[in-house]
Amino acid sequence: MASSLTAEDARYAELFDVVKEATSHGGDVFGDLTPGMNALRDQHPVMKGSLRELLNLPPAPHTMYENERPHYTVLNYALCNRALRENLLFSSEVYEESPGVRQLGKVILKMVGDEHQRYRKMVQPMFIRPRAINWWRKNWIKNSVAALLDRLQTMEKSDLNLDLCARLPVSIVTQGMGLEGDDALTFRVHLQKSMMARTLPIEEVMKASAEVQRMLKEVITARRARPEDDVVSALLACELELEDGGKRPLDDDEIFAYCRLIILAGGGTTWRQLGITLYQLLTNYRFWEDCRDDRSLIEPAIEEGARFMPTDPVFQRLVKETVELDGVTIPAGSRLDMCLGAANRDPAVWENPDVYDIHRPRGQQSHLGFGMGPHRCLGLEVSKQEMIVAIEGLMDRFPNMVLDPDAPQPQLLGGLEQRGMSAIPVILK
Ligand code: HEM
Repeated sequence: MASSLTAEDARYAELFDVVKEATSHGGDVFGDLTPGMNALRDQHPVMKGSLRELLNLPPAPHTMYENERPHYTVLNYALCNRALRENLLFSSEVYEESPGVRQLGKVILKMVGDEHQRYRKMVQPMFIRPRAINWWRKNWIKNSVAALLDRLQTMEKSDLNLDLCARLPVSIVTQGMGLEGDDALTFRVHLQKSMMARTLPIEEVMKASAEVQRMLKEVITARRARPEDDVVSALLACELELEDGGKRPLDDDEIFAYCRLIILAGGGTTWRQLGITLYQLLTNYRFWEDCRDDRSLIEPAIEEGARFMPTDPVFQRLVKETVELDGVTIPAGSRLDMCLGAANRDPAVWENPDVYDIHRPRGQQSHLGFGMGPHRCLGLEVSKQEMIVAIEGLMDRFPNMVLDPDAPQPQLLGGLEQRGMSAIPVILK
């Protein structure tokens, strides 16, 4: 089976278009909304209304959530951090109300408390830093980056958004799962369609869902018969701790759910965040040079990118009990928007928060771009390794790379849902 990693495949342009992705999820395409978010935060850190309403944006045609609960928004670091950490009070069960996430099955994203802990603890060892370096990086990331850079070396100019940022993460998560070759893109097409219950005819959604199931079932059956060194084989070997102290293996539905979540969570986010970071490095060129001369600065540059411009600037929670935050009473049953975009620019935490600066003193507060608390991104170390290896590789092969001055100016698009760069046109030198 041919690998789609380096193939000329029109589906990349189709699938990895920030505008299309945002609109297909019911979002919008406005440019950088950070100044508006910052202004709201400075007005008051907790407000009645959804972030969308507070920013005076038109209602999204297909909202992520189904029912109309009262809405509140928190905007500063202290309150977003608290809402992320106190998951029993500010509950991730909210995702149950999203038709797209519901489609993923029984996923840790929407679990809380003990159940979440038991399901997460089981898979955590596959995603810790040493595994990200010695397993993910060694098995899949290094080779994939090398193949992509070989392809770039045949070009004089490139749009890194499509030629690198889009191709790498989707391939890594699907390879890690055990799906190979051309399957990465085919799987992503079906997975995305299977989650678009609000925009596509139901027959199309069901058909895509069945395809996702069929492709995963094939891998699971194969790995049951003969385990390999991949995530599905590891999931098959996992044992879930039960409430009564016993243990049992995961059933197929639980394995399906993990695979769907990991592929979904790991594909789009790293694509957009890598693009945002590269754009910042190339527009603040002294930082590109600093990283090129001292590779230990690449990780801080990535972290600073996720602080300065997290690809997803807002997450939701369900308020389980009436609570008062900064003088505002939020009734039980409300939906809470946590505006991580504004929290990550909180002047109470960072000096000159609106400046991208890779030399910020270490040991400052951790930003919220990967979340915080019990649901903090499971894949963050994997994602960071993907970005580190990609940026290192670019610096090795194209040390003097610059943004192409003749190409249209790249823009940040995606509005509130999935922010990313429209393109990253570069001259490879
Ligand atoms: C730059 C890239 C990424 C960003 C910015 C990001 C961001 C996030 C955030 C903010 C959350 C918390 C959601 C919440 O609290 O409701 C999260 C959760 C999660 N992420 Fe990531 N993510 C990235 C890459 C990845 C990758 C590569 C994977 C998998 C390989 C992954 C897998 C997950 C999973 C499974 C969860 C759910 C964890 C839980 O509920 O306990 N993410 N991510």
